[in-house]
Amino acid sequence: MIIETAQRTRQTSEYYFSVKLAEVRKLMAEGHDIINLGIGNPDMMPSENTLAALNEAVHRPNAHGYQPYVGIPSFREAIADHYARTYGVTLNPTTEILPLIGSKEGITHISLTFLDPDDEVLVPELGYPAYRAVSQMVGAVVKEYPLRENYGWQPDWEAMAALLTPRTKIVWLNYPHMPTGAPATRELFEQAVAFAQSNKVLLCHDNPYSLVLNKKPPVSLLSVPGARDVAIELNSMSKSHNMAGWRLGWLAAEKPYVDAILKIKSNVDSGMFQGLQEAAAVALQNSDEWHRQRNAVYEGRLEAAEALLTTLGCTWDKSQEGMFLWGKLPETTSSAENLINTLLTEKHVFIAPGFIFGPKGQRYIRLSLCTPKERIWEAVERVKGQRGNGEKR
Ligand SMILES: Cc1ncc(COP(=O)(O)O)c(C=O)c1O
Repeated sequence: MIIETAQRTRQTSEYYFSVKLAEVRKLMAEGHDIINLGIGNPDMMPSENTLAALNEAVHRPNAHGYQPYVGIPSFREAIADHYARTYGVTLNPTTEILPLIGSKEGITHISLTFLDPDDEVLVPELGYPAYRAVSQMVGAVVKEYPLRENYGWQPDWEAMAALLTPRTKIVWLNYPHMPTGAPATRELFEQAVAFAQSNKVLLCHDNPYSLVLNKKPPVSLLSVPGARDVAIELNSMSKSHNMAGWRLGWLAAEKPYVDAILKIKSNVDSGMFQGLQEAAAVALQNSDEWHRQRNAVYEGRLEAAEALLTTLGCTWDKSQEGMFLWGKLPETTSSAENLINTLLTEKHVFIAPGFIFGPKGQRYIRLSLCTPKERIWEAVERVKGQRGNGEKR
């Protein structure tokens, strides 16, 4: 006998990558050489200073106990410094920053804190799948707001206004945008804040890509006047500091928002290892040169990824930021799913199909830049059919 799961489990599907990567691992275990251009999992190292700080903490006898629910002061202070230096935003490190076990978990804490069953949440019709999944898990009603494909995937504010009801509580926003790579602009953030203020909704901005292949200085939504009344910003060490597996992020907001979220979070987890937080504080001081070098590596990979898109007959927008390349499939490709499966099984190249980010992604694919450029060039050759699929390496 199997005890039945809750309604929420029955209506939730396992995360696409959780399922698909199991398939990829199976192929690898069978000895196939898979080039994984699917998930955005940075393959480069954190800075040397970061590693040294972690190493030092690991050997300190008093570093292994539970830590404060609000994170250690030096991590919060480093985040506040980082916000001041990077975005020109002043945050009080004691009251306006809440460290998180990655920004993904922040989506759950925010949703549990602000949403009652049947409250409504507006999510972008293309976006990080967790906004939708978590909103549904807490019993909220999800409505997708349109993005204007021909206007750089910007939100369609008029169409969004038409979706509002008295129950609309949260609007999720994410620029630089994943998966389309649409950049963040101050103008867009000003429009978002005006929208949230006039409609009395909470604007949750997810900002993990602002330092990756950005063409202009990075922007925080919190730099817009008035944002703090209506906005929470999530940020993360995962992509910008090559620390995805360390699970370190934070949210920044006015004290009442932070206090409310802490009520929930402190009942769910017990924070992070002191050494991880100390090392993250060090990482946040990485030099501009360190960030430039990381981006230079991604630039080199971008060239190879563009060649792969060309080989597949795709078109793409050159203004993209972040660590992916979003390409539109040619008319001649009948189905993204078939293409992805054929590339995986016949060429041993794994690419993410656009539909996992929302139905509007049906005719798109997303390449991750988290693989050495030589491997991406090899993928190009495999797809062109000039080389085998790596079996005999
Ligand atoms: C838009 C977006 N938000 C959040 C996350 C999660 O980041 P973290 O590692 O901080 O949980 C990702 C990860 O891929 C992402 O693409």
